[in-house]
Amino acid sequence: MARDPRFDILFTPVKIGSKTIRNRFYQVPHCNGAGTNSPGMNMAHRGIKAEGGWGAVNTEQCSIHPECDDTLRITARIWDQGDMRNLKAMVDHVHSHGSLAGCELFYGGPHAPGLESRTISRGPSQYNSDFATVPNCPGFTYNHAADIDELHRLQQQYVDAALRARDTGFDLVNVYGAHAYGPMQWLNPYYNRRTDEYGGSFANRARFWIETLEKIRRACGDDIGLVTRCAVDTLYGGKGVEIGEDGLKFIELASPYLDLWDVNIGDITEWGEDAGPSRFYQIGHENDWIRHIKQATNKPVVGVGRYYDPEKMLQVINSGIVDIIGAARPSIADPWLPRKIEEGRLDDIRQCIGCNVCISRWEMGGVPFICTQNATAGEEYRRGWHPEKFEPAKSKHDVLIVGAGPSGSECARVLMEPRLYRSPGGHQRQGRWLRQRRCDAAGSSRMELPSRLPRNPAQQAGQEKQAMPTGPRC
Ligand SMILES: Cc1cc2nc3c(=O)[nH]c(=O)nc-3n(C[C@H](O)[C@H](O)[C@H](O)COP(=O)(O)O)c2cc1C
Ligand code: SF4
Repeated sequence: MARDPRFDILFTPVKIGSKTIRNRFYQVPHCNGAGTNSPGMNMAHRGIKAEGGWGAVNTEQCSIHPECDDTLRITARIWDQGDMRNLKAMVDHVHSHGSLAGCELFYGGPHAPGLESRTISRGPSQYNSDFATVPNCPGFTYNHAADIDELHRLQQQYVDAALRARDTGFDLVNVYGAHAYGPMQWLNPYYNRRTDEYGGSFANRARFWIETLEKIRRACGDDIGLVTRCAVDTLYGGKGVEIGEDGLKFIELASPYLDLWDVNIGDITEWGEDAGPSRFYQIGHENDWIRHIKQATNKPVVGVGRYYDPEKMLQVINSGIVDIIGAARPSIADPWLPRKIEEGRLDDIRQCIGCNVCISRWEMGGVPFICTQNATAGEEYRRGWHPEKFEPAKSKHDVLIVGAGPSGSECARVLMEPRLYRSPGGHQRQGRWLRQRRCDAAGSSRMELPSRLPRNPAQQAGQEKQAMPTGPRC
């Protein structure tokens, strides 16, 4: 089927500096438990989204320097050439589907405990983390206040990491200032207690972030689209950043240095305000804040809000709140969401139900995540699972699905794909009891796993998984 012309606007390109995103679908940075140490998992997970039509696909938080080491959590790193090689697998796969690849430069300050690198990070002021970065140990980590030389070295770490991202082939470099990370700690008076020219007034607190953007631009020029992820309101009143105060003022001040704004709300201790569960938050719940951004900038804006529904996407674009639809969870639940809209297959969209199991899983310490709606998420490489492509069965056994929970339902859905099987007499569903010709999906110990499919350029070229590069650490 062709797409409904009402959705045409979602498929128009947008300029991001010297780069162009082919449509308005942008996978914002999100962790998946792969980090850079599982390059195949990262490549296949992100690559399938590009294949499914996401015009830009980002890494997760990507540490810029060993000083920012978030172990126990597994996150991406761009510390050295080994990391670059590992990230390049993702970049190449995303590019092979015509999408832009983005790298989110991350510096955690007190929220990155340095357990592997055994370093202490720097920040605007000495500060203990009140966030249990190490499970059950709030206050375990801290950064120390950077003197002016250290402050400049920290900015240089951003520049060097941006250059490594550019040389890896990333199109977009995103300076991560949401969730109270990196430069947001300098803007936010909750973290910044300095009395020199980098603390106190708004102009002083904004200085670190602005200078960092300026330095990255000077070093990378127009080779990259420069993005910053900014929480426009940290949601703890005057003690933090409020949209009506520093939030909008910062958008106005920093716009000339940027090609795209990636905006959200909340900080790391309350990031449920950003990734709001459906029990408490509707689609587009961040719009009360985000709707003000366009008045302070002429740069394109990407915003999030669990956008799985194409009608809501249309509304938010047509009303001029954002230019580009940002999505983390909807892109996990349905990596082929844009393609389904384009092909007029709205009924096939696998909706993110906002259960936040993906997040809860990751909050255990960054283990590989799962999704209740997309059983293939995270298994695209290791098991060769694809959310939309299933191999026809070789056996002709009948299958009984016991249970109608997520895995049983998904199993039934896959079995009902017409291209996979013919049910006797065309009778496909019998309540909770399904008798089908075969099953390849999970849900019963009787079922077999699908054999691996060719799923990435390296494997299609006949190379083995073991050939994935792993670089020396630090
Ligand atoms: C599993 C998971 C991991 C995330 N990790 C990051 C991250 O590394 N960096 C980041 O900026 N945001 C991260 N986020 C937040 C998302 O980018 C996004 O702001 C939030 O989920 C709201 O968007 P959504 O409603 O489309 O999910 C993560 C979200 C999820 C669900
Ligand atoms: S686990 Fe739940 S919240 Fe997370 S992407 Fe899947 S459906 Fe959405």
